[in-house]
Parts: sequence; C-alpha cells; structure tokens
Amino acid sequence: MAYQICLLPGDGIGPEIITEATKVLDAVGAKHGMSFEYHEALMGGCAIDACGDPLPDETLELARKSDAVLLAAVGGPKWDTTEPGAPRPEQGLLRLRRELGLYTNLRPVHVFSALADASTIKRSYIEGVDLVLVRELTGGLYFGERGRNEDVPGAGVDGAAGAEAYDSLTYSEREIERIARAAFGIAQRRPRKRLHSVDKANVLATSRLWREVVHRVAADYPDVELVDLLVDNTAMQLVHDPRQFDVIVTENMFGDILSDEASMLSGSLGMLASASLGDDTPVYEPSHGTAPDIAGQGVANPLAQIMSAEMMLRYSFSADDAADDIGRAIAAVLDEGWRTRDLAGADTPSDKVVGTAAMGDLVVEHL
Ligand code: IPM
Ligand code: MG
Repeated sequence: MAYQICLLPGDGIGPEIITEATKVLDAVGAKHGMSFEYHEALMGGCAIDACGDPLPDETLELARKSDAVLLAAVGGPKWDTTEPGAPRPEQGLLRLRRELGLYTNLRPVHVFSALADASTIKRSYIEGVDLVLVRELTGGLYFGERGRNEDVPGAGVDGAAGAEAYDSLTYSEREIERIARAAFGIAQRRPRKRLHSVDKANVLATSRLWREVVHRVAADYPDVELVDLLVDNTAMQLVHDPRQFDVIVTENMFGDILSDEASMLSGSLGMLASASLGDDTPVYEPSHGTAPDIAGQGVANPLAQIMSAEMMLRYSFSADDAADDIGRAIAAVLDEGWRTRDLAGADTPSDKVVGTAAMGDLVVEHL
C-alpha cells in the first residue's frame, strides 16, 4: 500500500527543492519496495494569494488524513509587512504546527567530512560534529498572548504618548515534561547519551520551571548525563567547542535561534533538515527559508529537503535502511566534490558546481 504524503511546496525555492525530494523518495522506494502517493496543497504566501488564508481548511484536512507532511518553506518579501492585521505566510506554518500538536522539533546537525571546509569555522573544530537540537515547537513566545497598545502615556519618544507592544512567554509543566521526555528518549538511544538543557534560568521564571521539570524527568533516565547551560553561553559554546554537544533540548525561541547558528557548523543553512513530531501527522521540513533572492533560478540546495524526506522514512515509516541509503548517497555525492552554489568554496572547480535538479539526480544515481 502506498504511503500518502501531503506536499506543501510553499513559496520561493520551495517548489524547486520539493521536486528533488520526491524524486529521491521514488528512487529509494523502488529499491526498498515502498511507494508514495503525493497530494499537493497550498500553504503560505501562495495560499494568501489564492484565497487570503495562509493555511486553508482543505490543506489542514489533507495534512490530518495523510501519513506524513513534506513541507518546503513559506514566506517572502511580497508578503512581508508590519501591518498588524495583514495575513502572513508564517502564520500558516505556526498554525499547522499548533493544530497538529507538533511539539517536538528535531534538527540534526551532522558535519559531512567533505563539507568541513565549507563552514566558516575551522575544520579542526567541527570535524565529527553530530548533534541533535530538540526544539519545543508549540509553546512559549510564539504562541503567547501578544498585542499592541497605542497612545500609551510616556511610551513615545521624548516622553510623549506612543505605542507599546508585548509578547508573553508562558510554559506549563505539562509542556516542559513532554519535550523533556522526548529529548531524554533520544539521548538514551545515542551512543554518548548526553543531554544539554538550555535555558535562561538566571533571569526568566519560565526557565526556572523548565530546569525544575527537566531535573525531575531526569530521574527516569539515569543513564543519560544531564548538563544545564544558559542560552547565551550555549550560543558561544556552539562555535567554541561544538563537539561537546550530543542532544540539546530547549524552548521554542531559543531553539529557533540556536538552530540557525548550529546549521552553519555543517557548512550551510541548506544542510539542516527537521522533523516535527507530536500528536497528529508529523511534518518534515528543511529549517531554512524560501531564499527569495535565488527562487526560480534552479540553483537552490535541495539537500536539507532531501534529508527531511530521509527523516520521514526513519520516523514515520521506520524505514531505517532506506533512510541510511539516502544518507550514504548524499555523503558519496559530496565526497565526489559536487556542490550547490551555497556549498561551493573558492577552491571548488566550476564544473563541480551544480544546480538544484542536477544535485537531486546525483543523489538518485548514487542510490
Ligand atoms: C523555523 C523558521 C520559522 C520559525 C519561521 C518561518 C516562523 O524560522 O522553522 O525555524 O521561527 O519557527
Ligand atoms: Mg528559524
């Protein structure tokens, strides 16, 4: 029976890179006796253009009844506005995460040896980096009460009346407990069994609750080494000594910021895949954006999207062999020196720099 995949290409480079992921899925499926049926729907800016809603009901329904969602990216300058009431593409993504209860976001950072020189950080610091960032995805600042008040006395410049805005940060024990359990479970299955819990407990009440709950949960995972780290220190440690990290668990906003930082260890934001898991249909998406500056040119790096499909095979379909095949194929392509533009360095020969479709083809050939 074919797996039912909901495809959300979104905006910008999205449609280009998602095509490469389905190409690779079909190839690996043929080899391992699996097949996929794709159902495409609108989300993001394209959905705003088509029907004024970044997450139309049909899209959400399709996602709910699919086995997995493969999403590319949403957003772009066309829909960028500071207008408080205007619909934004990102709202579609946030609502999808929330509606599907996807509170666990896994962002693995793996440094392919062939790419160690593509990073802005020296090879000697990053070679061998293999970490997973576990980001809480449905709570905190992203979903807290927010608002804006006009004409507040003293809020303007020079003490005049002016606007003020607020976003509130709330975490419940339940929300912290379930993400902590997910992270401990992942750490327990990895050879190093080390978990860094990242917070700002020296300042924030939510972080103090976070730390308390994480330590309580730790009692059920005695074989996992737990280390508390403040978020500012983590930002520094990620570039100072990234190999110390195995699994990192943190709240939504810190995870958003740290995952962009961590992605650069692997050479490019174009190498960071992600899986969002929870109550309903899982969503697999690259952690990068829509790269509007290169959209439509056929030069985007499809690897994070392909690796997101690899995560789908692993987490949704327990097809570890097929997933491993994709990982090996990507490593082989990179070992042969093939690079998309974002990964190419000054010493990359120009005949080794390939476009989006050619990169997808190379991965398929190596399967
Ligand atoms: C990410 C993205 C999203 C986020 C944006 C597009 C809303 O940056 O998945 O990391 O902040 O979660
Ligand atoms: Mg982000």
